[in-house]
Amino acid sequence: MEIKNVTVIGSGTMGQGIAEVFAIYGYNVKMEDISQEILNKALNNIKSSLLKLEQKNQLFGKKADEVLSRISTYTSIQEAVKDADLVIEAVPENEELKKKIFAEAENYARKETILASNTSNIRITDIAKDLRYKDRIAGLHFFNPPVLMKLVEVIKAEDTSDEVMDTLVELVRKIGKYPLRVMKDTPGFVVNRINAPESLLFCLLLDNKVGTPEEIDAYFKSQGLPMGPYELMDYVGIDVVYDSLEYFAKTLYPCFSKCNTIKELYKNKQLGMKTGKGFYDWSKGRPVIDVKKATDKITMLDVLALEINESVKLIEQGIASPEDIENGVKYGMNRPYGPISVAKSFTSLEIKSKLEELASRFNCDVFEPAESIKNGLLRDAIEGRLKVSETKKIEETKRKVETVAELKGSIENFKTIRLEKYPNKIAKIVLNRPKYNLISGELLDELEKVIKYIWNDPEINVVIITGEGSVLSAGADLNEFVSGSFQFLENSRKGERVFQLLSEIPKLTIAVMKGYALGGGFELSLACDLRVGTEDVQIGFPEVTLGLVPGWGGSQRLSRIVGLGKAMELIVTGQRITGKEAYSLGILNRLYKNPDEEVMELAKSIAENSAPVSIALVKRLLNKGSQVPIDVGLEMESFAMGVLYSTEDLKEGIMAFLQKRKPEFKGR
Ligand SMILES: NC(=O)c1ccc[n+]([C@@H]2O[C@H](COP(=O)([O-])OP(=O)(O)OC[C@H]3O[C@@H](n4cnc5c(N)ncnc54)[C@H](O)[C@@H]3O)[C@@H](O)[C@H]2O)c1
Repeated sequence: MEIKNVTVIGSGTMGQGIAEVFAIYGYNVKMEDISQEILNKALNNIKSSLLKLEQKNQLFGKKADEVLSRISTYTSIQEAVKDADLVIEAVPENEELKKKIFAEAENYARKETILASNTSNIRITDIAKDLRYKDRIAGLHFFNPPVLMKLVEVIKAEDTSDEVMDTLVELVRKIGKYPLRVMKDTPGFVVNRINAPESLLFCLLLDNKVGTPEEIDAYFKSQGLPMGPYELMDYVGIDVVYDSLEYFAKTLYPCFSKCNTIKELYKNKQLGMKTGKGFYDWSKGRPVIDVKKATDKITMLDVLALEINESVKLIEQGIASPEDIENGVKYGMNRPYGPISVAKSFTSLEIKSKLEELASRFNCDVFEPAESIKNGLLRDAIEGRLKVSETKKIEETKRKVETVAELKGSIENFKTIRLEKYPNKIAKIVLNRPKYNLISGELLDELEKVIKYIWNDPEINVVIITGEGSVLSAGADLNEFVSGSFQFLENSRKGERVFQLLSEIPKLTIAVMKGYALGGGFELSLACDLRVGTEDVQIGFPEVTLGLVPGWGGSQRLSRIVGLGKAMELIVTGQRITGKEAYSLGILNRLYKNPDEEVMELAKSIAENSAPVSIALVKRLLNKGSQVPIDVGLEMESFAMGVLYSTEDLKEGIMAFLQKRKPEFKGR
């Protein structure tokens, strides 16, 4: 499709720059805004910019006035879009406003007109949600100032047609820019998404008093950057940074909204250069930063690791190619290098260790390493060698990356696990996989999310874990056997991590052992607080017979229940025992004929009679207390009593006892 007539809606910083670029390259441009006064101001700015370019001989031999004459102005969208081949929306970053503009443009533009948004972060698919002809909606993200910046991200929304993408990519080349193909819609697209974790890190550094803006900026300037990160945030606008972080918190990871410093500045309307105050005082002009004050508490690697990590996530999710990411960051951030070439100097392990350190230091999952980095596949990722199956698998998992609010919705779509809720604040997690509910990587991922969800749900106090059909689980899915000792270690750590999370959840957990509870299925049960099952359930650790050891906590948890001698015997022989034997060893707390039904009585009685705060503390006292000397354990116990003293549940428990009624615990 040939583009000749371009309409730009919004004539602010970006709209006027975009209009100027198209006019320079000979397109007919219509510029639309809410008032003629704003449009005249924009025309004046364009004129002075064109005159400068003319002086520098950068108008391909044309005169500024000739270029300017290609731009006409409008205050009506209907008039502005009616002959357009392409409409570019550049109004403020507000999803509802953008939706409204698109709806209007769709009404008045021809059916084949391409409608594009210059949004910085908002998913194009969301903007296009209510439109009729979604295949012609795309993103066309210019960088500021459009006349100078070489990058334009071309974004494919869920329904954008390939033809529209190809037309836009070609068009971007024709106006002398580098088109970065964003193959899947994602908040922040490529460059802003790569930038987002470091903005968060810089804010958290201040929250955690690691240094002052000046000390940290001084460090980055001493490393050759033209502007320090805080100076840059002040320049861009604290409101813009704040809004972006909030949007990413809503759409990617909740912990993007963790930073207090930025919230305070935003609340106090200290928005940076434009208000005269932000991280710095701008009333006397640009802040003077003394590089001698550079802190040594942060390194370039902190930032580079975050950029590499986000780039790898984009590759894993099939959002952009390594080459486009490299060029995108170079051209979009005006830097001589991009994250892909930097990543070539590091091993997976170096980047992974740095990211894990940041994630645990700031308690923030945005910094957690991407799957490929965790699995030692950094080089494969940046060299475009991730196998399709790996990309797909990682992508499927990542698509479910949640905000806590979204988690609830995403649980409904889980493939390997079902969460059922019952009265009395009881919930059931049902493993649901073919062939005896074998535990796959996907199941572990989904289990982890369900646990995190339950952790924060005050409407759940008792959790039952069971399997679909007549079996709990016959163990790990060996079809997913990963090669390489390091990957194998990581695989074990994943299961350990999820089961540890389960064992620490401040709710009572009960495993239903039926059919088979072997290997990983047995380990899952051991991570629960109580176990119930049938007399004939087959229980055991067959790992040694396969040349393995129980690798998801089984080698540690079993001996804590049955003692060292019996645990040793069960593990080294790999023998199976029945539910009846397990009951006599104290592994099973109750024997039932129909455990899925009968367990509900036990759950109900605990949910009705035991205070949730007491249960949460008892779990800690028993699980952690068994690992420390008794005097430390006793100290923990008295602290727990101190904590309970002021709870509403204690008052309610005593009142109910005195009044001879059932308590109504609140869990606080
Ligand atoms: N400024 C940047 O550095 C930059 C870079 C890339 C992308 N963006 C994105 O580009 C878009 C525009 O940003 P900007 O910095 O140019 O904003 P801006 O505030 O400078 O300009 C927005 C313009 O839109 C006009 N406008 C508002 N409501 C309108 C309506 N109903 N109809 C027509 N025009 C309307 C305003 O009058 C104003 O002229 C935003 O989505 C922003 O996130 C900005």
